[in-house]
Amino acid sequence: MNVIETREIIYEYPDGTKALENVNFKAEDGKIVALLGPNGAGKSTLFLHFNGILRPTSGEVVVNGHPVSYNKKDLMKLRQNVGIVFQNPDDQLFAPTVMEDVAFGPMNMGLSRDEVEKRVKDALKRVGMEGFEKKPPHHLSGGQKKRVAIAGILAMDPKIMVLDEPTSGLDPKGASQIMRLLYDLNEDGMTIIISTHDVDLVPLYASTVYIISHGNIIKEGNPQTVFSDVETIRTANLRLPRIAHLMEILNKEDHVSFGKPYPLTIGEARRKILEEVED
Ligand SMILES: Nc1ncnc2c1ncn2[C@@H]1O[C@H](COP(=O)(O)OP(=O)(O)OP(=O)(O)O)[C@@H](O)[C@H]1O
Ligand SMILES: [Mg+2]
Repeated sequence: MNVIETREIIYEYPDGTKALENVNFKAEDGKIVALLGPNGAGKSTLFLHFNGILRPTSGEVVVNGHPVSYNKKDLMKLRQNVGIVFQNPDDQLFAPTVMEDVAFGPMNMGLSRDEVEKRVKDALKRVGMEGFEKKPPHHLSGGQKKRVAIAGILAMDPKIMVLDEPTSGLDPKGASQIMRLLYDLNEDGMTIIISTHDVDLVPLYASTVYIISHGNIIKEGNPQTVFSDVETIRTANLRLPRIAHLMEILNKEDHVSFGKPYPLTIGEARRKILEEVED
Protein backbone atom coordinates (compact mmCIF):
# COMPACT_ATOMS: atom_id res chain seq x y z
CA MET A 1 0.00 0.00 0.00
CA ASN A 2 1.14 3.56 -0.72
CA VAL A 3 1.03 5.72 2.37
CA ILE A 4 1.75 8.85 0.35
CA GLU A 5 0.91 9.37 -3.26
CA THR A 6 0.80 12.48 -5.40
CA ARG A 7 -1.30 12.36 -8.55
CA GLU A 8 -0.21 14.63 -11.36
CA ILE A 9 0.46 17.54 -9.09
CA ILE A 10 1.38 20.90 -10.48
CA TYR A 11 2.48 23.68 -8.16
CA GLU A 12 2.90 27.29 -9.04
CA TYR A 13 4.20 29.78 -6.45
CA PRO A 14 2.31 33.07 -6.18
CA ASP A 15 5.04 34.83 -8.20
CA GLY A 16 4.33 32.51 -11.14
CA THR A 17 7.29 30.10 -10.67
CA LYS A 18 6.16 26.66 -11.77
CA ALA A 19 8.03 24.51 -9.24
CA LEU A 20 6.29 21.18 -9.91
CA GLU A 21 5.23 20.26 -13.43
CA ASN A 22 3.35 17.01 -13.19
CA VAL A 23 4.58 14.94 -10.31
CA ASN A 24 3.55 11.38 -9.59
CA PHE A 25 5.34 10.21 -6.47
CA LYS A 26 4.59 7.20 -4.31
CA ALA A 27 5.93 6.04 -0.98
CA GLU A 28 5.08 2.50 -0.03
CA ASP A 29 4.32 1.63 3.57
CA GLY A 30 7.40 0.69 5.58
CA LYS A 31 9.99 1.73 3.00
CA ILE A 32 12.82 4.22 2.86
CA VAL A 33 12.30 6.39 -0.20
CA ALA A 34 14.89 8.90 -1.41
CA LEU A 35 14.28 11.91 -3.60
CA LEU A 36 17.37 13.12 -5.41
CA GLY A 37 17.65 16.27 -7.41
CA PRO A 38 19.82 19.34 -7.94
CA ASN A 39 19.22 22.76 -6.36
CA GLY A 40 15.91 24.26 -7.36
CA ALA A 41 14.54 20.97 -8.74
CA GLY A 42 11.44 21.09 -6.52
CA LYS A 43 12.31 18.70 -3.67
CA SER A 44 11.31 20.99 -0.81
CA THR A 45 8.21 22.14 -2.69
CA LEU A 46 7.09 18.55 -3.18
CA PHE A 47 7.70 17.64 0.48
CA LEU A 48 5.62 20.59 1.71
CA HIS A 49 2.66 18.99 -0.05
CA PHE A 50 2.89 15.82 2.03
CA ASN A 51 1.38 17.37 5.15
CA GLY A 52 -0.69 20.03 3.50
CA ILE A 53 1.56 23.06 4.06
CA LEU A 54 1.28 23.64 0.32
CA ARG A 55 -1.81 22.81 -1.66
CA PRO A 56 -1.32 21.74 -5.27
CA THR A 57 -2.39 24.15 -8.00
CA SER A 58 -3.82 21.07 -9.67
CA GLY A 59 -3.74 17.33 -9.03
CA GLU A 60 -4.11 15.68 -5.65
CA VAL A 61 -2.17 14.40 -2.68
CA VAL A 62 -3.37 11.13 -1.18
CA VAL A 63 -2.29 10.02 2.30
CA ASN A 64 -3.17 6.52 3.54
CA GLY A 65 -5.61 6.19 0.66
CA HIS A 66 -7.49 9.44 1.39
CA PRO A 67 -7.16 12.67 -0.54
CA VAL A 68 -5.81 15.35 1.81
CA SER A 69 -8.53 17.52 3.28
CA TYR A 70 -7.40 21.09 3.92
CA ASN A 71 -9.65 22.11 6.80
CA LYS A 72 -7.87 23.00 10.03
CA LYS A 73 -8.93 19.97 12.05
CA ASP A 74 -8.02 17.44 9.38
CA LEU A 75 -4.69 19.15 8.78
CA MET A 76 -3.84 18.84 12.46
CA LYS A 77 -4.53 15.11 12.34
CA LEU A 78 -2.54 14.77 9.13
CA ARG A 79 0.46 16.49 10.73
CA GLN A 80 0.54 14.02 13.61
CA ASN A 81 0.69 11.25 11.07
CA VAL A 82 3.17 12.83 8.66
CA GLY A 83 6.07 14.62 10.38
CA ILE A 84 8.24 16.90 8.29
CA VAL A 85 11.75 17.98 9.22
CA PHE A 86 12.44 21.16 7.24
CA GLN A 87 15.60 21.68 5.24
CA ASN A 88 16.51 24.71 7.33
CA PRO A 89 16.22 24.11 11.09
CA ASP A 90 15.72 27.85 11.65
CA ASP A 91 12.31 27.45 9.97
CA GLN A 92 11.43 24.86 12.59
CA LEU A 93 12.96 25.77 15.93
CA PHE A 94 11.25 28.58 17.76
CA ALA A 95 10.97 27.83 21.50
CA PRO A 96 13.26 29.49 24.08
CA THR A 97 14.96 26.19 24.96
CA VAL A 98 15.78 22.91 23.26
CA MET A 99 13.60 21.03 25.74
CA GLU A 100 10.53 23.22 25.12
CA ASP A 101 11.05 22.96 21.41
CA VAL A 102 11.13 19.18 21.34
CA ALA A 103 8.24 19.02 23.82
CA PHE A 104 6.00 21.27 21.72
CA GLY A 105 4.72 18.60 19.32
CA PRO A 106 3.97 15.86 21.85
CA MET A 107 2.43 18.41 24.23
CA ASN A 108 0.02 19.55 21.51
CA MET A 109 -0.98 15.94 21.04
CA GLY A 110 -2.44 16.04 24.53
CA LEU A 111 -0.05 13.49 26.03
CA SER A 112 0.55 13.34 29.77
CA ARG A 113 3.44 15.32 31.28
CA ASP A 114 5.32 12.11 32.08
CA GLU A 115 4.90 10.79 28.56
CA VAL A 116 6.04 14.10 27.06
CA GLU A 117 9.12 14.12 29.28
CA LYS A 118 9.93 10.56 28.35
CA ARG A 119 9.60 11.26 24.65
CA VAL A 120 11.73 14.41 24.80
CA LYS A 121 14.47 12.60 26.67
CA ASP A 122 14.40 9.64 24.34
CA ALA A 123 14.34 11.76 21.16
CA LEU A 124 17.26 13.92 22.30
CA LYS A 125 19.21 10.83 23.20
CA ARG A 126 18.57 9.22 19.83
CA VAL A 127 19.91 12.24 17.95
CA GLY A 128 22.90 12.58 20.28
CA MET A 129 21.75 15.85 21.89
CA GLU A 130 21.36 14.87 25.52
CA GLY A 131 22.57 17.55 27.87
CA PHE A 132 21.48 20.43 25.62
CA GLU A 133 17.96 20.64 27.12
CA LYS A 134 18.35 24.12 28.62
CA LYS A 135 20.17 25.76 25.71
CA PRO A 136 18.37 28.24 23.49
CA PRO A 137 18.25 26.74 19.97
CA HIS A 138 19.81 29.88 18.44
CA HIS A 139 22.97 29.23 20.44
CA LEU A 140 23.47 25.84 18.83
CA SER A 141 25.71 25.06 15.86
CA GLY A 142 24.09 24.31 12.50
CA GLY A 143 24.48 20.55 12.86
CA GLN A 144 23.19 20.63 16.43
CA LYS A 145 20.11 22.58 15.32
CA LYS A 146 19.47 20.00 12.64
CA ARG A 147 19.57 17.21 15.22
CA VAL A 148 17.20 19.05 17.56
CA ALA A 149 14.80 19.67 14.66
CA ILE A 150 14.83 15.93 13.93
CA ALA A 151 14.25 15.18 17.63
CA GLY A 152 11.21 17.50 17.63
CA ILE A 153 9.51 15.48 14.93
CA LEU A 154 10.71 12.17 16.31
CA ALA A 155 9.11 12.96 19.67
CA MET A 156 5.70 13.01 17.97
CA ASP A 157 6.28 9.44 16.79
CA PRO A 158 4.69 9.96 13.36
CA LYS A 159 3.87 6.97 11.12
CA ILE A 160 5.60 8.70 8.25
CA MET A 161 8.69 10.84 8.64
CA VAL A 162 9.71 13.18 5.86
CA LEU A 163 13.17 14.73 6.09
CA ASP A 164 14.37 17.43 3.72
CA GLU A 165 18.14 16.94 3.42
CA PRO A 166 18.58 15.36 6.86
CA THR A 167 22.36 15.01 6.51
CA SER A 168 23.25 18.43 5.10
CA GLY A 169 25.48 20.35 7.47
CA LEU A 170 26.29 17.27 9.54
CA ASP A 171 29.82 15.95 9.93
CA PRO A 172 30.45 12.46 8.46
CA LYS A 173 29.91 10.70 11.76
CA GLY A 174 26.78 12.74 12.46
CA ALA A 175 25.42 12.00 8.98
CA SER A 176 25.96 8.25 9.40
CA GLN A 177 24.46 8.39 12.88
CA ILE A 178 21.29 10.08 11.60
CA MET A 179 21.00 7.64 8.67
CA ARG A 180 21.44 4.77 11.10
CA LEU A 181 18.69 6.23 13.30
CA LEU A 182 16.37 6.48 10.27
CA TYR A 183 17.23 2.91 9.39
CA ASP A 184 16.33 1.75 12.91
CA LEU A 185 13.06 3.72 12.91
CA ASN A 186 12.25 2.13 9.58
CA GLU A 187 12.97 -1.34 10.97
CA ASP A 188 10.39 -0.53 13.64
CA GLY A 189 7.83 0.19 10.92
CA MET A 190 8.11 3.90 10.18
CA THR A 191 7.98 4.97 6.55
CA ILE A 192 10.86 7.33 5.80
CA ILE A 193 11.08 9.80 2.93
CA ILE A 194 14.25 11.83 2.51
CA SER A 195 15.61 14.29 0.01
CA THR A 196 19.33 14.48 -0.42
CA HIS A 197 22.28 15.22 -2.67
CA ASP A 198 24.28 12.58 -0.87
CA VAL A 199 24.39 9.85 -3.51
CA ASP A 200 26.91 7.85 -1.50
CA LEU A 201 24.50 7.30 1.37
CA VAL A 202 21.38 6.65 -0.71
CA PRO A 203 22.12 3.15 -2.04
CA LEU A 204 23.05 2.01 1.44
CA TYR A 205 19.64 2.81 2.87
CA ALA A 206 16.92 3.57 0.33
CA SER A 207 14.84 0.89 -1.34
CA THR A 208 13.28 3.30 -3.84
CA VAL A 209 14.88 6.31 -5.45
CA TYR A 210 13.24 9.14 -7.38
CA ILE A 211 15.11 11.71 -9.41
CA ILE A 212 13.52 15.11 -9.85
CA SER A 213 14.73 17.75 -12.26
CA HIS A 214 13.04 21.06 -13.16
CA GLY A 215 9.88 19.99 -11.34
CA ASN A 216 9.57 16.64 -13.15
CA ILE A 217 10.26 13.14 -11.90
CA ILE A 218 12.65 11.84 -14.55
CA LYS A 219 13.53 8.45 -13.09
CA GLU A 220 12.34 6.07 -10.39
CA GLY A 221 13.23 2.57 -9.26
CA ASN A 222 15.54 0.74 -6.90
CA PRO A 223 19.03 2.24 -6.44
CA GLN A 224 20.62 -0.31 -8.78
CA THR A 225 18.22 0.56 -11.62
CA VAL A 226 18.38 4.30 -11.12
CA PHE A 227 22.17 4.50 -10.85
CA SER A 228 22.66 2.30 -13.92
CA ASP A 229 21.15 5.12 -15.95
CA VAL A 230 24.32 7.20 -15.87
CA GLU A 231 23.08 9.56 -18.56
CA THR A 232 19.96 10.57 -16.63
CA ILE A 233 21.99 10.98 -13.45
CA ARG A 234 24.33 13.39 -15.18
CA THR A 235 21.57 15.22 -17.04
CA ALA A 236 20.12 16.01 -13.62
CA ASN A 237 23.49 17.47 -12.50
CA LEU A 238 23.93 14.60 -10.07
CA ARG A 239 26.81 12.15 -9.93
CA LEU A 240 27.28 8.45 -9.39
CA PRO A 241 28.22 7.20 -5.95
CA ARG A 242 32.05 7.43 -5.70
CA ILE A 243 32.40 3.66 -5.72
CA ALA A 244 30.33 3.30 -8.90
CA HIS A 245 32.31 6.13 -10.50
CA LEU A 246 35.58 4.35 -9.77
CA MET A 247 34.17 1.15 -11.31
CA GLU A 248 33.09 3.12 -14.38
CA ILE A 249 36.58 4.61 -14.81
CA LEU A 250 38.26 1.21 -14.35
CA ASN A 251 35.89 -0.20 -16.95
CA LYS A 252 36.07 2.56 -19.55
CA GLU A 253 39.66 3.80 -19.18
CA ASP A 254 41.52 0.73 -18.02
CA HIS A 255 39.30 -2.02 -19.43
CA VAL A 256 39.14 -3.69 -16.06
CA SER A 257 35.60 -4.78 -15.39
CA PHE A 258 33.96 -6.07 -12.28
CA GLY A 259 30.71 -6.56 -14.16
CA LYS A 260 27.60 -4.44 -14.52
CA PRO A 261 25.64 -2.93 -12.96
CA TYR A 262 28.47 -1.16 -11.16
CA PRO A 263 28.60 -1.86 -7.44
CA LEU A 264 27.22 1.12 -5.50
CA THR A 265 28.59 0.50 -2.04
CA ILE A 266 31.95 -0.38 -0.53
CA GLY A 267 30.52 -3.71 0.60
CA GLU A 268 29.38 -4.74 -2.88
CA ALA A 269 32.62 -3.53 -4.51
CA ARG A 270 34.68 -5.41 -1.97
CA ARG A 271 32.81 -8.64 -2.70
CA LYS A 272 33.20 -8.27 -6.45
CA ILE A 273 36.93 -7.43 -6.24
CA LEU A 274 37.58 -10.38 -3.93
CA GLU A 275 35.73 -12.70 -6.33
CA GLU A 276 38.02 -11.55 -9.17
CA VAL A 277 41.21 -11.80 -7.12
CA GLU A 278 40.37 -15.27 -5.89
CA ASP A 279 39.68 -16.61 -9.42
N1 LIG B 1 8.42 30.92 -1.90
C1 LIG B 1 8.77 30.82 -3.18
N2 LIG B 1 8.32 31.70 -4.10
C2 LIG B 1 8.65 31.59 -5.40
N3 LIG B 1 9.44 30.64 -5.90
C3 LIG B 1 9.92 29.73 -5.04
C4 LIG B 1 9.62 29.76 -3.64
N4 LIG B 1 10.24 28.74 -3.03
C5 LIG B 1 10.90 28.07 -4.00
N5 LIG B 1 10.71 28.65 -5.21
C6 LIG B 1 11.24 28.21 -6.53
O1 LIG B 1 10.70 26.92 -6.79
C7 LIG B 1 11.69 26.09 -7.40
C8 LIG B 1 11.87 24.83 -6.56
O2 LIG B 1 12.43 25.17 -5.32
P1 LIG B 1 12.68 24.11 -4.14
O3 LIG B 1 13.05 24.87 -2.95
O4 LIG B 1 11.52 23.21 -4.07
O5 LIG B 1 13.95 23.31 -4.74
P2 LIG B 1 14.85 22.18 -4.03
O6 LIG B 1 14.90 21.02 -4.96
O7 LIG B 1 14.37 21.95 -2.67
O8 LIG B 1 16.30 22.87 -4.03
P3 LIG B 1 17.52 22.78 -2.95
O9 LIG B 1 18.32 21.57 -3.28
O10 LIG B 1 18.31 24.03 -3.23
O11 LIG B 1 16.93 22.75 -1.58
C9 LIG B 1 12.95 26.93 -7.53
O12 LIG B 1 13.00 27.44 -8.84
C10 LIG B 1 12.74 28.05 -6.52
O13 LIG B 1 13.37 29.24 -6.94
MG1 LIG C 1 15.19 22.17 -0.84
